Amino acid sequence: MKYSLRWGDINVDPKAWHRCKKQIDHPVRQVLSKTIKSLECKSVLDVACGTGTSFIRLNKLPEMDYVGTDITVRFLKVAHNEYYIRNVVRASVTNLPFKDNAFEVVTCKDILEHLEPLKWIPALEEMCRVASRFIIPIFFNLFCSSPTKSVIGPGDFYYSHINLEDVRAVLCLHDYEVSSIKWGIGNPTNQLMVAEKLIGG
Ligand SMILES: C[S@@+](CC[C@H](N)C(=O)[O-])C[C@H]1O[C@@H](n2cnc3c(N)ncnc32)[C@H](O)[C@@H]1O
Repeated sequence: MKYSLRWGDINVDPKAWHRCKKQIDHPVRQVLSKTIKSLECKSVLDVACGTGTSFIRLNKLPEMDYVGTDITVRFLKVAHNEYYIRNVVRASVTNLPFKDNAFEVVTCKDILEHLEPLKWIPALEEMCRVASRFIIPIFFNLFCSSPTKSVIGPGDFYYSHINLEDVRAVLCLHDYEVSSIKWGIGNPTNQLMVAEKLIGG
């Protein structure tokens, strides 16, 4: 079996996958936009945004400054050409071309578990660096107690299990504290976490 290992290398039709109503209306995207609205933040970085599907809802929030980054050019092209997202930037999750504290909120959906083994740690650290107030990672495979481990499959890309306590520890090192976790949004394995920067941190 040939592994491409990186989500984005596999043969996903960006328009078919991201533009279907099921994706746009996914409950987790609804919760994400409600959460960002409730935090009263004006600048959002969506790391590994794919075609920018989450933007469709976020765009309805007033005065939202949205920037999306992704490594896969053909996804960013759809974001730019079909969703008219002006601010899309090609970047790796571990090397975001922004200054420290550049965005009030930094979010990512369904990427940390797709990275090479343990690469989610520098990725999360990089998100902490560019965020000034909140980090909102959305996981599809967050575990309360099992050890963090990386596996391949069921597709041909990485599909890691990430441990909640490991995530808390990394966030804590960067002065972030988990303020809420919503478990099982839309399906049992979706989790939306809000981590807040500690005052004075
Ligand atoms: C499962 S998709 C999620 C896309 C989007 N967040 C969403 O929910 O619609 C994973 C995304 O991560 C991107 N990606 C994979 N490895 C990456 C990396 N090292 N740096 C940045 N983006 C990456 C892929 O191109 C793909 O768009």
